[in-house]
Amino acid sequence: MTQQPLLTLNDGHTMPQFGLGVWQAPNDKVGEAVRTAIAAGYRLVDTAAIYENETGVGDGLRGADVARGDIFLTTKLWNAAQGYDSTLRAFDESLARLRVDYVDLYLIHWPAPRRDLYVDTWRAFVRLRQEGRARSIGVSNFCPEHLDRVVGETGVVPAVNQIELHPRFQQSTLRAADATHGIVTQSWSPLGRGRLLDDPAIVAIAAKHGRTPAQVIIRWHLDNGLAVIPKSVTPERIRENFDVFAFKLDTDDLAAIARLDDPAGRIGPDPLTAAF
Ligand SMILES: NC(=O)c1ccc[n+]([C@@H]2O[C@H](COP(=O)([O-])OP(=O)(O)OC[C@H]3O[C@@H](n4cnc5c(N)ncnc54)[C@H](OP(=O)(O)O)[C@@H]3O)[C@@H](O)[C@H]2O)c1
Repeated sequence: MTQQPLLTLNDGHTMPQFGLGVWQAPNDKVGEAVRTAIAAGYRLVDTAAIYENETGVGDGLRGADVARGDIFLTTKLWNAAQGYDSTLRAFDESLARLRVDYVDLYLIHWPAPRRDLYVDTWRAFVRLRQEGRARSIGVSNFCPEHLDRVVGETGVVPAVNQIELHPRFQQSTLRAADATHGIVTQSWSPLGRGRLLDDPAIVAIAAKHGRTPAQVIIRWHLDNGLAVIPKSVTPERIRENFDVFAFKLDTDDLAAIARLDDPAGRIGPDPLTAAF
């Protein structure tokens, strides 16, 4: 089995640095993708209530040849369920769909500042962690002010902040804020949703190493200490994306990729202005 890196979270638990994202993986296809990934060596799966595929993810986990305890399972609370009591209910529903009795990581999907419920929601997350049903708790799409507020009002620091991050949107300010709090940054849309794979700088580095563009980008996340969750439902790509532990980028490669950063490079919504 390929040795893959683990990150130690600020609550003492460890999390694989690499895993499978399953946004837009249909519920009737995601189980096969999860099984393929686990057979290839993946040990982390990242889903969310809003992906409407937790049932299929649960099927995939049960059909895999690896014990539940060896898999790191993440799911997320959708914005409409924010609030103390509704969070507890939504969490129970996610566990029921996944057919597990705990998750390894539960994330607040978006701060949704217009709702102004993320601190109450976080208090419910703290309770779920105390109960041991969410082994670790974290956030997603939180900006520095949201992090400061949950930490200031509850004293409990999220373990993970999962944010849009790829070579075209490198998020240095938010990464620094995460690091100040001891929060692991996890990159979503790490391949820029596939749009970065034909970037000439990435293609050139891939040719130099005899690797694919996707492998170069995933390696860039790993070499930057970021957790990373590329999504694919294509078996060859699932295996290709895992085959990244036997090479490293050099300083010239890292400098060339650093130059791709673009303040306008965001693909997804801005958490401060998102309508949901
Ligand atoms: N917290 C949040 O708000 C949030 C938001 C977005 C995403 N996420 C998480 O992050 C995960 C990854 O982000 P993402 O799905 O947006 O984008 P991504 O991982 O950057 O890119 C996925 C796209 O790239 C393609 N792809 C994957 N590997 C490839 C390869 N080796 N060669 C060529 N194409 C490849 C996939 O196609 P196929 O599947 O067809 O192979 C898919 O179209 C999500 O699945 C989800 O778990 C979280």
